[in-house]
Amino acid sequence: MKLYMVSLGPGDYELITVKALKALKQSDAICIPTKSADNSFVRSMTYKIVKKLMDEFGFDKPIIPMYSPMKFQKEDWQRQVDIIYNSFNEYKTLSFVTLGDSAVYSTVYYLLDLIKEQNITIYKQCEVIPGVTSFSHASAKVKKPLCVGDSSFLIRPLHKKKVPFTTVYMRPKIGMSTENIKNKNLIYTFENLNYKEEQILDYKKQKVDKYMTLFIDFLQ
Ligand SMILES: C[S@@+](CC[C@H](N)C(=O)[O-])C[C@H]1O[C@@H](n2cnc3c(N)ncnc32)[C@H](O)[C@@H]1O
Repeated sequence: MKLYMVSLGPGDYELITVKALKALKQSDAICIPTKSADNSFVRSMTYKIVKKLMDEFGFDKPIIPMYSPMKFQKEDWQRQVDIIYNSFNEYKTLSFVTLGDSAVYSTVYYLLDLIKEQNITIYKQCEVIPGVTSFSHASAKVKKPLCVGDSSFLIRPLHKKKVPFTTVYMRPKIGMSTENIKNKNLIYTFENLNYKEEQILDYKKQKVDKYMTLFIDFLQ
């Protein structure tokens, strides 16, 4: 049993990652959200991307529609999670797809929170595959950086003023102390990701040892 949460990128099918493409190819079926209660995909960008990838890369998988009205209600996420549980009776490997990157305002984590609570086996067998965000794509389109040198970069939802937030700390100096980083929520240290001696720690390292270090204070 394997569940992939696949980020499809910002709408241009060529902006999908190789890892995401491989996950789709390895899946026995692909779960695609739709806003249409009749389970059609007429206006679905997600469906268009998956279809285009299947045509271009020569594979064909059964599609499982997941009605997703975007009303932020638990029963909607529960219905989608139940579809995933039921689909595992028929298929061994499933992908659930999302636009952009799963880390940014995606349904993925509403579903994963429920799965973690209700079926730890599936949760442990789940892999989240990151993707290109809409704002990375937008930045590239107009050839303007989101942050450069000593600047920072904020993502703010437009519907509310005061909201909880995640902070990403980057570009440390080797040897610096991290005591000035005031962790508010749940901070992790990511060192040398995808390099030799990769480390992921669920706490803040007291001293920076490697330039390739990120601290993320995740909202909870
Ligand atoms: C639910 S969020 C999903 C974000 C997505 N996961 C990402 O990585 O960009 C949807 C919001 O992302 C932005 N967005 C997503 N796709 C976009 C696009 N193709 N053009 C402009 N904005 C987009 C809009 O602000 C939209 O309201």
